Amino acid sequence: MTAPKLLSPATIGEFDLPNRVVMAPLTRNRARPDSNVPHALNAEYYAQRASAGLIITEATQITPEGKGYAWTPGIHSAEQIGGWRQVTDAVHAQGGRIVLQLWHVGRISHTSLQPDGQAPVAPSAIAADAHTFDGEGFVQTSTPRALATDEIARVVDDYRQAARNARQAGFDGVEVHAANGYVLDQFLRDGSNTRDDRYGGSIENRVRILREVFEAVTDVWPAGRVGVRFSPFAGFNDMHDRTPMQTFGAAISAASAAGLAYLHLVEGQTGGPRDLPEGGDLDALRARFDGAYMANNGYDRQLAVDAVESGHADLVAFGRPYIANPDLVERFARNAELNAPDQATFYGGGAEGYTDYPTLAESQAA
Ligand code: PHB
Repeated sequence: MTAPKLLSPATIGEFDLPNRVVMAPLTRNRARPDSNVPHALNAEYYAQRASAGLIITEATQITPEGKGYAWTPGIHSAEQIGGWRQVTDAVHAQGGRIVLQLWHVGRISHTSLQPDGQAPVAPSAIAADAHTFDGEGFVQTSTPRALATDEIARVVDDYRQAARNARQAGFDGVEVHAANGYVLDQFLRDGSNTRDDRYGGSIENRVRILREVFEAVTDVWPAGRVGVRFSPFAGFNDMHDRTPMQTFGAAISAASAAGLAYLHLVEGQTGGPRDLPEGGDLDALRARFDGAYMANNGYDRQLAVDAVESGHADLVAFGRPYIANPDLVERFARNAELNAPDQATFYGGGAEGYTDYPTLAESQAA
């Protein structure tokens, strides 16, 4: 039997990947509690997964204001850059490739997680019916304040600086997180953006900040080392849009115009069903983008093999399977059984449920 195309090399923008299996961005809440600095345990976790064609880090806040959950890492302090350097060195020592996911949560935060206990910022002062984790439990997100027009350049600059910091930390590239109801997604969709300035109203206006972020990030990185993630049909974090095909069609065209390496879509509901709403058409969205397509959400080996074989996807990102299987690529190559992930240890804690999932070789030796 010949190896499936899923396991064959791919050149994606400036990335040379040994296979098309991607480790999806996964929030694990295991950075240092006060400083949000990644450390040796995080380096070990990512290095264990270095056989992935590409690793996308967990979402990482670009600024203190961009934080929405306890114990998530940042990329805005010298200490955090140093912590991430340990991670990238460890992954590279194992022969891997790793990009940083740039994150600003917007309204998906709580005053207790914000600098000076202030309200989170968002396109509009519309609270999300959503929860976040404050370090003790799940709490309702706080009502945000709307960013003033002249503050938006500063937010864009925070992306630029974070992109620079990612270079300094030794990453191979960055992914702009524009999915799952966080700040860029909040600007894109009309349920969370009711602005009447040049960043709201028409689709062109709602896409503007995203274009500016692409410009900022590609000032720092070659566009061939930058990807973007959207979740056009997901309701996660209380997101709504009246015309998702048009809204995300425009957003994806902006990504294509910026020359980005890959388009990463959450197909269906984040972490949930893969069904699309009436009128939802992934192929039509994908057709707006000139670079590679990375599919995500609920893929197993067979679905991924078929998606790459049929030309639906160039790359497939796996989330839950990567939590429990550091050697996912080797397991796919042998069509071996997978370890089952333990939901109880997804968020927070230490090595348990993080770096202690065995490889196939380790299970067989036991
Ligand atoms: C989460 O922490 O629940 C989370 C973070 C980033 C995402 C989605 C979910 O994109």
